[in-house]
Amino acid sequence: MIGPPSIGRRLTLLLAGVAALLSVLSWGMVTGLARQAAERTQDNVLAASATTIAETLRSEQGEVRLELPYSAFSMLGAIGEDRVFYRVSAGEALLTGYADLPAPPPDDAPAPGAVLFDTGAFAGEEIRLASVSRRVLAGGQPVTVTVTVAQTRSGVGVISAELSQLAARLSVAFFLVAVGLSAVAVRASLRPLNEIAAAVARRGPSDMRPLRRDAPAELAPLLTALNRLMDRLGQSIRRSEDFIAEAAHRVRTPLATVRTQAEIALRSVAEPEEKQRLRRIIRAVDESSRSAGQLLDHATVAWRADDLTREAVDLTDLAAQSAAALEPTAAMKDIRLVLRTEPARVAGDPVLLDNALRNVLDNAIKYSPEDTTVTLEVRTDQGEARIAVSDEGPGLGEDPPDHLTERFRRGSNTEGIVGSGLGLTIAADVLSAHGGRLELGHAEGGKGTCATLVFPLS
Ligand SMILES: Nc1ncnc2c1ncn2[C@@H]1O[C@H](COP(=O)(O)OP(=O)(O)O)[C@@H](O)[C@H]1O
Ligand SMILES: [Mg+2]
Repeated sequence: MIGPPSIGRRLTLLLAGVAALLSVLSWGMVTGLARQAAERTQDNVLAASATTIAETLRSEQGEVRLELPYSAFSMLGAIGEDRVFYRVSAGEALLTGYADLPAPPPDDAPAPGAVLFDTGAFAGEEIRLASVSRRVLAGGQPVTVTVTVAQTRSGVGVISAELSQLAARLSVAFFLVAVGLSAVAVRASLRPLNEIAAAVARRGPSDMRPLRRDAPAELAPLLTALNRLMDRLGQSIRRSEDFIAEAAHRVRTPLATVRTQAEIALRSVAEPEEKQRLRRIIRAVDESSRSAGQLLDHATVAWRADDLTREAVDLTDLAAQSAAALEPTAAMKDIRLVLRTEPARVAGDPVLLDNALRNVLDNAIKYSPEDTTVTLEVRTDQGEARIAVSDEGPGLGEDPPDHLTERFRRGSNTEGIVGSGLGLTIAADVLSAHGGRLELGHAEGGKGTCATLVFPLS
């Protein structure tokens, strides 16, 4: 995996690890308790059995006698299929039972009333022993009689194994449920984070408004930091736009002076060659001034698109107004501007829309040869309003239309034509701020260009 592991996966793994540990611990505990309980039961029955036998001890004609009551062994049989052994001895002498059963020696005999338990081996099996003793008079002498009852332990093993298996199954079930619940809990706790990420991702590139939403306390610092960052970013963008606007303005003012001076000079010279040179200077100054204007426009667009005013704008009026504004420029090249319109209204910022259309129209005039026609057509179509500007110029050439809308990007057909590469960028930005788009293609039935401003109809 590349990068740090996901928080969700890490948390789930951690919680699953804790659940596994708890499951194993609880399984071990239940198994131990089950074994203890089974052992204790066996001890109690062994003790009861030995005590029952010891109670039948009596002295008869100077000899110790006893009965082996049936009940003493039947209760042991209740525990399982385990084999039972016993041994009764008076001092060193064996009275009855298995001589080699590992019973306590006479010196270590349990005190009367007490039960001595032991674990040992007999006939190749593990056994549990319980011994009790009583003092009985034999031949006028008190003798310590020890009764030992023993039982193999396989029954205890079986019971505790069964309980242990049950506990294991329960532990696995507990583990699975715990893992499922942790996954759900982790997802639920990460949801606010994902929501913030989605809210940021949904934003437009120039949307620097602070995020206003309720975040859990843990995320509040992140949100505050994010908002502060966006605020600083917004300020710095605004500063640089201001700077560009100021710079453009400062460039345009001296250019205007140069133009005035050149015009005065043009009037005072007589030689055609000189006049031609001065006209070229004036045209270059005009273009430079226009480029500086576009820089200013670009800054204005970026600024106003953040906080778009939405007025009803009549596209026919807009087309007529832009055509009228560029009529003199077109006339200089004997270019006819033809308007074909049908009623269409959109909601938008009139200053920005005028700016966008002028840039497109300016291109059509600038890149067209003299004595041609530029057509502006306004129409509505499938929920969209369109202003198409077609010319009879050289076309867009090899350049992909997407590239031409990049900042400062100029085409390969621009030799000798002054420009900044900002016109289409401005138009495309204005349209996307209005929820529309700029389409660039071929003019119908010719080799010229058709640039279309497309708006969603309000
Ligand atoms: N009507 C047109 N005819 C031919 N080429 C065009 C037309 N409009 C735009 N272009 C191409 O797209 C490029 C980008 O246009 P624009 O952003 O307005 O920059 P500029 O006009 O300052 O070069 C132009 O340099 C030109 O190559
Ligand atoms: Mg242009």
